[in-house]
Parts: sequence; C-alpha cells; structure tokens
Amino acid sequence: MPTESDIRAALSTVRYPGFSRDILSFGLVKSIQVQQGQVTVEISLATRDPNIPRLIHEQAMEAIRQVPGVTEPRLNFDIKEPPNPNQGSADKLPKSSIPGVKKIIAVASGKGGVGKSTVASNLAVALAKSGSRVGLCDCDLYGPSIAHMFGSNERPYQNDEQQIVPIERYGLQLISMGFLLDDDSPVIVRGPVATRYTQQFLRQCAWDDLDYLVLDLPPGTGDIQLTIVQTVALDGAVIVTTPQEVALIDARKACSMFQKVNVPILGIIENMSYFLCPSDGQKYHLFGQGGGEHEAKRLNVPLLGQVPIEMNVREAGDEGHPIALEDPSRSTASQVFHSIAAQLKTHLA
Ligand SMILES: Nc1ncnc2c1ncn2[C@@H]1O[C@H](COP(=O)(O)OP(=O)(O)OP(=O)(O)O)[C@@H](O)[C@H]1O
Ligand SMILES: [Mg+2]
Repeated sequence: MPTESDIRAALSTVRYPGFSRDILSFGLVKSIQVQQGQVTVEISLATRDPNIPRLIHEQAMEAIRQVPGVTEPRLNFDIKEPPNPNQGSADKLPKSSIPGVKKIIAVASGKGGVGKSTVASNLAVALAKSGSRVGLCDCDLYGPSIAHMFGSNERPYQNDEQQIVPIERYGLQLISMGFLLDDDSPVIVRGPVATRYTQQFLRQCAWDDLDYLVLDLPPGTGDIQLTIVQTVALDGAVIVTTPQEVALIDARKACSMFQKVNVPILGIIENMSYFLCPSDGQKYHLFGQGGGEHEAKRLNVPLLGQVPIEMNVREAGDEGHPIALEDPSRSTASQVFHSIAAQLKTHLA
C-alpha cells in the first residue's frame, strides 16, 4: 500500500511552472490523504493564470500514478486570487514584506564580479547620507563580502526573540552571512537547505525602522535568488552590469527573472564604464562602450549611472570605508553613487 511519504516524494518532483522549485517546498500542498489505493491531495494556489493549475494537475497526476499501489488518485485545487493585486500578477506566489522595513531594493547581476557588492554598499551609504534609515543585507551565502567592505568582524547577537540584531556601521544597519561564519569556514549548504537558510536569514533580522533595505544578491539566477524574489515583497531591483557583451547577456537573464515575478526593474547601473586617465584626462572604455545604455533602452528602464573604474573605489572597499562616504567632489564614483541614490529615492517615493 502507498504511504503518505511515498506521495510526498512523488510530489517533490513536481515543479511550479516556470520555476526550478517544487510545489511541496513552496508549501502549496495542504493535505495528503491515503486510504489504501485512494489518494487525495489538496493543493492551494494563488494565481489568475489558468495554465498554472492545469500544468500542476498534469504533472502531479502523472507523479502520483507512478507510485506503486495507487489506484484512485484525486487532486483538489483551492485557487485564490493573488493577495496583492496592485503589485502582482498571474503567477505570483504570496510574498511578504520584512518587519521593520519600508522599501526593499535588490541589487542583482547575471554575471559575477561586475561590482554588485560595491554598488550595493555604496548605494546604501549614499541613501543613508541623504538622511534615510538604511539597512544592507548580504544575501550571498557562498561569497559574502559586505562584512569585508565595511571593515567589520563584529558579530551580531541574538535578542530575546531569537532575532539577529544587525550591527551598525557608518549609521547603517548591516547583516551579512560573513558575520555569521568563521573566517575561512567553507559554506557547503546547497539546494533546499540554502533556500530555507536564506528565507530564515531574511525574516529573522531585527531591522530597526528602516526606510530602505538594500539586498546584495549573489550573482546569477539560481535557487537563492529565486527564493528571494519569490518570498520577499521587493519594491524593485537594480541590475549591475559592465559594458561588456558577456555581462550584458547575463544581465538580460537577471532582468527576465524579475520580470517573471513582476518585480519592477528600477534601472541599470553600468559599472567599470571607463577609466579616466589622470595623466592625459582621456576616458578609456576598457570593457567597451554603450552596452548599459543600449540595454536600458531595450528594457525601457533608466540607465541610472555609469560608474568609472577608480583605484580608490577598490581601495575604499578593501579598507572597509566605501567610496560614497567620500565627498562627491573628490571622486566621480562617489558622485555617481549619490546621483543614483537620489534617482531611486524619487522613483520610490
Ligand atoms: N568601479 C570600480 N572601480 C574599481 N574597482 C572596482 C569597481 N567596482 C568594483 N571594483 C572591484 O572589483 C572587484 C569585484 O567587485 P564586487 O565584489 O563588488 O563584485 P560582485 O559583483 O559583488 O562580485 P560577486 O559576483 O563575486 O559577488 C572588487 O575587488 C571591487 O573592489
Ligand atoms: Mg558580491
């Protein structure tokens, strides 16, 4: 005779259409009843797209029928309207906002190493310098760098409610996986564990009355990124790219991930746009020219800024003192970060 866990195992192979995660780990399976060969599964969905239940029905029936001993499979669907119609659409899963936070901005890229953490740190600093209360969360489990960029090895503590209390640096509230790990300890959590860990991590921080929370996402469009965009009510995402074609190709993938779940793309930030040579005053476009602008036009979103390659951007990051703390008159990069922050503030107001 089939058991409930046999049916669970079968349902764990059924993916939510368009996503890499299964319907069980999304929490859509509300109950499973097994009486000899009769199996009844209740599935709850929030969607306006009739194809979603149809596709899940097909796949789930197929999976349950494969379980030995099942004679009468039955699927009952409870289909609701998505909870937040003015923010979402058809295939959006229920999202929730993070306690203590007014607006959440994700900083993402398709390709690694294009300067996402540098942009996220400096954007957060620039927003804070303009008078807002800002938090920065490093969501990169495998290569956290925000702790390093803010020169901190202070450990956050847990409060009485078992929440992680962010540390304070330059007036910002910071949380990074880097704070929670020992130096050099390898992180080997994968797949569903990483997903659960990230969800917990985002929900269990004691943010103190933030106007903006900036999320530094890991590069790419894998499970962790999907978990974040699906479970957090993001107000928007900025996409970081270099002008190079390989980076732009990956940036497009990141954009389509956000578009799929109806997170507005607030704009493109082109990093490492050019090098201003101090000896001849010329701009050198080391990674090509015009890529960010072209991509922004294609997506019909603003090109929020072009950040030059500056030695002091790298140095400031390494020294734990982001360049946006510097007076904008002394660094073009700092100036660009402050201008981007001002545009985002206006847009999100
Ligand atoms: N505009 C810039 N000028 C000079 N150096 C820069 C600039 N932007 C980023 N860097 C340097 O490039 C390196 C990679 O940047 P960063 O860590 O921000 O990239 P990332 O996209 O977050 O990488 P990952 O994908 O690994 O998370 C860092 O050493 C950083 O200091
Ligand atoms: Mg990074």
